[in-house]
Amino acid sequence: MDLAGKKIVLGLTGGIACYKVAEFTRQLTRAGASVQVVMTDAATHFITAVTMQAVSGRPVYTDQWDARIGNNMPHIDLTRDADAIVIAPCSADFLFKLAHGACDDLLSTLCLARPTGLPLLAAPAMNVEMWQNPATQRNVAQLRADGIRLLGPDAGEQACGETGMGRMLEPEQLLEEVIASFQPKVLSGKRVLITAGPTFEPIDPVRGITNLSSGKMGYAAARAAREAGAEVILVSGPTALATPYGVHRIDVHTAQQMLEAVMSRAGRQDVFIAVAAVADWRVANASQQKLKKTAGGDPPPLSFEQNPDILATVAALPDKPYCVGFAAESENLIEYGKAKRDKKGIPLLVGNIGPQTFGKDQNELILFDDQGQTHIARAGKQQLARRLMAEIATRLANRLSDSTQA
Ligand code: C5P
Repeated sequence: MDLAGKKIVLGLTGGIACYKVAEFTRQLTRAGASVQVVMTDAATHFITAVTMQAVSGRPVYTDQWDARIGNNMPHIDLTRDADAIVIAPCSADFLFKLAHGACDDLLSTLCLARPTGLPLLAAPAMNVEMWQNPATQRNVAQLRADGIRLLGPDAGEQACGETGMGRMLEPEQLLEEVIASFQPKVLSGKRVLITAGPTFEPIDPVRGITNLSSGKMGYAAARAAREAGAEVILVSGPTALATPYGVHRIDVHTAQQMLEAVMSRAGRQDVFIAVAAVADWRVANASQQKLKKTAGGDPPPLSFEQNPDILATVAALPDKPYCVGFAAESENLIEYGKAKRDKKGIPLLVGNIGPQTFGKDQNELILFDDQGQTHIARAGKQQLARRLMAEIATRLANRLSDSTQA
């Protein structure tokens, strides 16, 4: 569980997005967090303290003068063992209060009195005009300068009927952001390009050749790289997966399209991670029209040509990023893994241990580099992806220090 043992103070302020925060609370608790809800008076007009108590499983605080805390100082007591404060939704008024150090209710006082270093994350939610108003933008700039992390807002349809910036992030996105806030920023400021998923090579306009890659490992890598502080581009073949929050996704179908999407960006990247299961061959004589079957007729005479090797092409660039490849072998992984690393000309190759990882949630890895092999024990793909980012970051730092010493 990504938030096991974490204590989150969840502050609700006045906004219709409060209705989504019951679900967000459930997601936080399912991820292992214990959630202490604090609500402003305005928030209680949008969702009741009873609902928030039921979903968080803890008494809710709304009043500075609440006597349930021993020393009657909830504004101090509630944050002293917390790991983060999350304000969702954060109204325009509350952004103002945070920016100016106001403390005229329990939640604002608790924020002002938070221990130095306790992360404060705020998810703004308001009408587009309120968000764009220079007064709000001044407060936002001040909050960023003060080290308060803003989660969103997003653009789109608003409850008031208008459209634009100001929607609160969805509960799943907020959860991803809270989890991300606890991950070490080992790739801070780095640019990471990742390929993921299968490719789809057409036979005719409605048929094609693909493979069983689900994209899960590549998407987990993209999310982990973003969590580690990188700017991430994900070039993806067809998958049913949601884009990790904050990742720039480019959709492609064929290996040729994937190559073009990668090559037009590869020169500006620090790291390239090729996770996609790229088709080795494409149909050379794909039909522009749907192939028709005729009674007793012959099957279509398909011929194939080899696809470009995207990873090897990037690894051959003069200004290449740090290149990482994946290998899924059904036998002799150690022997084939070492050989594949050499053949592709890459510093790091990641071998999937086990006959079939496609579509599964768990995996086990072995890393091949110039020092030998490192085994990474079986775990969920997201955990493995986080570990992989740490391994990549260490090798990247060593490489940079080697090149500056040379
Ligand atoms: O050669 P093989 O397909 O076994 O190599 C797997 C690795 O190479 C993976 O990292 C995969 O993403 C990458 N690859 C590629 N372009 C291809 C074939 C594989 O980038 N055409």
